[in-house]
Amino acid sequence: MPKSPEELRSYRWFGPDNMRGFSHRSRMKQPGFRTEDFTGKPVIAIINTWSEINPCHYHLRERAEAVKRGVWKAGGFPVEIPAFSISETYAKPSPMLYRNLLAMDVEEAMRSLPIDGAVLMGGCDKTTPGLLMGAISIDLPSIFFPAGPMLRGNWGGKPLGSGTDLWKFWTERCAGNITEEDWGNIENGIARSPGFCMTMGTAATMTALAEAIGFTLPGASSIPAPDSNHVRMAMECGERAVQMVWDDLKPSTFLTRQSFENAIAVDMAIGGSTNAFIHLVAMARRANIDLPITVFDEISRRVPVLADIRPSGRFLMEDFFYAGGLRALMARIEDLLHTDAITVNGKSLGENNAGAPTYNDEVIRTRENPMVSSGGTAVLYGNLCPDGGVIKTSAASENLLTHTGPAVVFKDYNDMDARINRDDLEVTPDSVLVLQNAGPLGGPGMPEWGMLPIPKKLLSLGVRDMVRISDARMSGTAYGTCVLHVSPESWIGGNLALVRDGDPICLDVPNRRLDILIDDEELARRRAEWVKPEPKYTRGYLALYAERVTQAHEGCDFDFLEKRVPWPEPEIH
Ligand code: FES
Repeated sequence: MPKSPEELRSYRWFGPDNMRGFSHRSRMKQPGFRTEDFTGKPVIAIINTWSEINPCHYHLRERAEAVKRGVWKAGGFPVEIPAFSISETYAKPSPMLYRNLLAMDVEEAMRSLPIDGAVLMGGCDKTTPGLLMGAISIDLPSIFFPAGPMLRGNWGGKPLGSGTDLWKFWTERCAGNITEEDWGNIENGIARSPGFCMTMGTAATMTALAEAIGFTLPGASSIPAPDSNHVRMAMECGERAVQMVWDDLKPSTFLTRQSFENAIAVDMAIGGSTNAFIHLVAMARRANIDLPITVFDEISRRVPVLADIRPSGRFLMEDFFYAGGLRALMARIEDLLHTDAITVNGKSLGENNAGAPTYNDEVIRTRENPMVSSGGTAVLYGNLCPDGGVIKTSAASENLLTHTGPAVVFKDYNDMDARINRDDLEVTPDSVLVLQNAGPLGGPGMPEWGMLPIPKKLLSLGVRDMVRISDARMSGTAYGTCVLHVSPESWIGGNLALVRDGDPICLDVPNRRLDILIDDEELARRRAEWVKPEPKYTRGYLALYAERVTQAHEGCDFDFLEKRVPWPEPEIH
């Protein structure tokens, strides 16, 4: 039964024939609207993370106009609301610190204002989970409009990939193999349109998972930002949001354990960013769905990596779109998905992807010819990570997946930065680089430091990968044999804090183990000597963050926001 106009949430503000109703209506006339434009009409918030300091979202100001066209066309009333734009490039010390702030921004804006539903606009890494976490918590009808990937990079006719080629060419520059002129040309060519990073980084991963989980219209996540289809998709999101309000189609209606398992399966099939582990756990908890990280490993073991996209593969997101995009990929793993999961268009995932063609089997591999047959990302346990650690095996070196070597320990990022390239650093290709104090509290915000640089003296010997371990995250565009998200983190006294130079470390990915090979008595002795560090931030939002953030395996959410609870409508006096 669709809602009646009087049942709309916004009607509580605009409908009553009283002093407050007068006030709310008269103020909406300031911009020149008429009573009938907004009263008894679904008021759709266009929650826009546009900002000039977030170049990935530079086009969203314009796209908001297309969303509004769709809302008007469907008989709704659009209101654009700016939200905190977390620029992955510029937000320091770590953009991850601000994901929860954006989620709070979304939740509280929608709660406090006369909003019936929302179109959420974002895409640059943390903006997608931030927007979705807020929408899940407030649980009003909401649809996600992904910002879309930027065009392929270009350098002298060769494609360049965001992040991935930065790491690669920076390593070569450090090794003395890139000229000044070439370096300048790479800088000009690596990001040449609005849109998010066009490798399978966190942005492309999280927008794909938003689609897999049911939060977008079919195909929305793969459209490049400058493509005209992107404008049409914006309009369709506006139209659909209006109908979702009448139908009361809320996140709690379509998000289930099965839809999260779909997102994990897609994460594996696209060779997605390890950051997805943290974000999906946080989103699931907000939806009151139990999603331990062991589920990721279970699903990883049965899902092949089919997307041949950098950093795991060869191509870029523009190629992925031309090859058929996410719908084609999901059609290829249909038997591994819960196809009856409902999505924002009211249809099932299976209906949305049925018969989606693949136009290029090199970009979206067949099941017979996968990139990796299974296990693209693994969850590790052991005495170095009793609550878990993560490794993206599809972006690691096969020969290092089983490796024992002596630790070279850096007590924090600055220590690493100061010593990693010194000639007197005692390091060999067999060493295991260990970075401490880079976790949720230690970083703080788990900065993407997990791909520790290869020491210069080894680079000059031709070494390009080593085992690296930290409680940090790693950019989705990065690669290498890097164990990440070690939990509990070293800042709070996890065993990672107790590792010392020379300790033998054993990585055994086939058996999902990560251990420090010293006896328990020695570990206990070191633990007794360990001194808890002083908090880095003592005021404002960062102090709140330090007090209330959870560990990586718990999603790094705030403990007071983890569960969705019924909330009272604000009183209108
Ligand atoms: Fe925005 Fe990579 S910097 S998505």
